[in-house]
Parts: sequence; C-alpha cells; structure tokens
Amino acid sequence: MLETLKPQPADALLALIKLHNADPRPTKIDLGVGVYRTGAGDTPVFGAIKAAERILLDTQDSKAYLGPEGDMGFVHALIPYVFGAAFDRSRVEGMQAPGGTGAVRLAVEVAARAGAKRILMGTPSWPNHAQIVAAVGLELKTFKHMTDDGTADLEALRAALADAAPGDIVLLHGCCHNPTGVDYTPAQWDEIAPMLAASGVLPLIDLAYQGLGDGMEADTYGLRQVLAAVPEALVAYSCDKNFGLYRDRVGAFYAVTDNAEALAHAMANGATIARAGWSMPPDHGAAAVRLILGDTALTAQWLHELTAMRGRMAQVRERLAAAQQIGPINMAPLGSQKGLFSMLPLSGEQIMALRERHGIYMAGSGRVNIAGLTTGNIEAFLAALKDVTE
Ligand code: LMR
Repeated sequence: MLETLKPQPADALLALIKLHNADPRPTKIDLGVGVYRTGAGDTPVFGAIKAAERILLDTQDSKAYLGPEGDMGFVHALIPYVFGAAFDRSRVEGMQAPGGTGAVRLAVEVAARAGAKRILMGTPSWPNHAQIVAAVGLELKTFKHMTDDGTADLEALRAALADAAPGDIVLLHGCCHNPTGVDYTPAQWDEIAPMLAASGVLPLIDLAYQGLGDGMEADTYGLRQVLAAVPEALVAYSCDKNFGLYRDRVGAFYAVTDNAEALAHAMANGATIARAGWSMPPDHGAAAVRLILGDTALTAQWLHELTAMRGRMAQVRERLAAAQQIGPINMAPLGSQKGLFSMLPLSGEQIMALRERHGIYMAGSGRVNIAGLTTGNIEAFLAALKDVTE
C-alpha cells in the first residue's frame, strides 16, 4: 500500500538549515530559519531559562501525565502579559500547545468545529499558516499584506473584510509580521478593531514574537484593541522565540468570548483535538516559563535578556537602513520593520547566486532573518547584495 504514496517536497525552510550546515565556507551566513542569534552568531539558552531548569531539576518530583491541556500554571501565568493585567479574566481561557504551530492548529480546528469554512489571510504569510488551513480543510482567501512601498496595506484588509461573511476567520499577525516585518501601526489597529467587529468575522491572532518588536506591552497593542472591540477571538501564542525555547515547543492556545458556556466548549473541543493529535504537550519548556513568571528576579532577568535581543536587532536594522539603496532595493524601510524578518525583493536567480557565490542562505521568498547578521558579517552581506543586484 505504501507504494501508492506520492513523494513530498522537503520543507524548504527546514531544508535550508541542513544546506547551511553542510557548507564548509567559514564566511557563510545563515539568514534562514527564524531563530535569534547573538552578535557572535550563537543561539544560546536564556540565562533565566537555565536558572529555571536548575530549579526544575532540583524540585520536580514527578513527570506523571498532566492531561491534554498541559501545564495550566504556565497558561495562566502568561495571561497578564498577553491580555493585560486589567483584562476580564472571565472572558479568557487557554491550554498549552506544542509551539506556535500547535497553537495555530488548535485554533483553526476549533474554529472549523464551530462552523468556520473560510480563512482570510494577508500574504505573504508564514508558510505553515496556509499548510495548516489546507490540512484542516478550510478554504483560504488571501489579500495583500504589504504595499509596494513596504508598509502594511490597510486598504487590502478593508476590502477583504467588506467581502467577508460572518463566521469567516481572519488570521492576523499580532506583531513582528513573518515574513515581511511589516506590522500594522497603532493607528491602523485603531481602525482594524472596529472593522473586525462590524464584519462579524472571528479574529485569530497569531502572537509568536511578543517582545521582539517594541516591547512586551507595546507588542500587544493591536491584539488588545481587537479584543476590546469584538465579542469573540482566538489567540495562538508562542514562547519559542521570546524565551528562546524553539525545540522545546512551548505555545498556548487561548479563546476569548463573552459567553462562559462557549468558552468552556472551546476548551473541551481543544482538549479532544489535542488528545487525538499529540495527547499532551511537552512539559519541560512550559514548566521553565511558569517558574520564571512566578519569580520576580527571574522575570526581571528574562526581560533584561529580551531587551538585549531587541537592542541588537535594532542595531542591525539601523545599519541595513543606512545602506539606503542597493541596486533596485530600497533598504530604508528595513529600519522601521519589526522583529526577526524582512523580505528583500530578490529573484530566484539572485537568491541562488547569493548562496552559491557568497554562502548566504535565505528563504526562496527573499525573507531574511536579520538576526543572522552581525558586526562581523553585515558588511560582507551588503557587498554580496550589491554584487548580485547591480
Ligand atoms: C520560521 O518561520 O522561521 C520559524 O517560525 C520556523 C518554523 O517553524 O517554520
């Protein structure tokens, strides 16, 4: 029977990790998968996580099953950070998920069980978004996320919403848009929130990079505006980036609704979906996050480390923007874009030339992880970009 299976292309983004690892050139630069790197090019474990892991090692007395909802102490500890200290706790409940991917999957499946048939999504988007929508069997309707001048295209979203039917899902990136780095401005979110409310759609906000843009509070501006305007929304959250826990797969799925019964049903459905998928989420990373958020000193240490990450990315963006123009590429917008990613308008040939001639690895879309750039390699990167575009 297995011979009937069709070959599948390797996941392009994950394949890039292997290609980069196999390149023997010491000057190679990895701008592929979205992990933070220090100025020395490393992706270290946060000091706050190491400290929490030591506490876990000493105090954790059982690894017995927790249940499909995972570590609810972790899920609840995040609520003030995500939704705000003053948020009405009776409106929100959540469950742990295996990373941001697991959280998006839970959100889309719960919405599908609630009758959603279609998702509206700005493109380009994170490749997994479309894959998850297809796997759950919903129709995908796309609109343009970014205008040609490198800002968010509010008119495209407005047109998509005008055409939406109540019960459609609208998937929005909370901050640090992957792959463009182009976020809606606070003024745009002020317009988006009532537009969502008026259209009767179910907003699904993917918040995978809180703290990597302008700060933990500032990065929730859009999410909180939306939640204040609509009766119901879903949130997919990831700690993979802001706690550096990538491979530990630490995420959470939240439902927000004014209807207490609907909230309980959303969680009950989430639990049965989890049970049939992964049964229970991995515990270790979430337990470490719970310990950090329950300890003032560890929280301060974690926030300090996160601030340093943000500062380094701001420096890289400043240098990229200062290049102004490279061939046909206007570099200036990279300075105001947010988070790990920006997208360069490069052809497939130019991306291959960067890889072959210069050992520079980036996604086929032209998405670059700017954290892969350091004071040691950024000038070489700019020179290579000039080489392939001029
Ligand atoms: C990325 O977009 O680089 C990451 O989120 C990795 C992934 O899971 O696709």
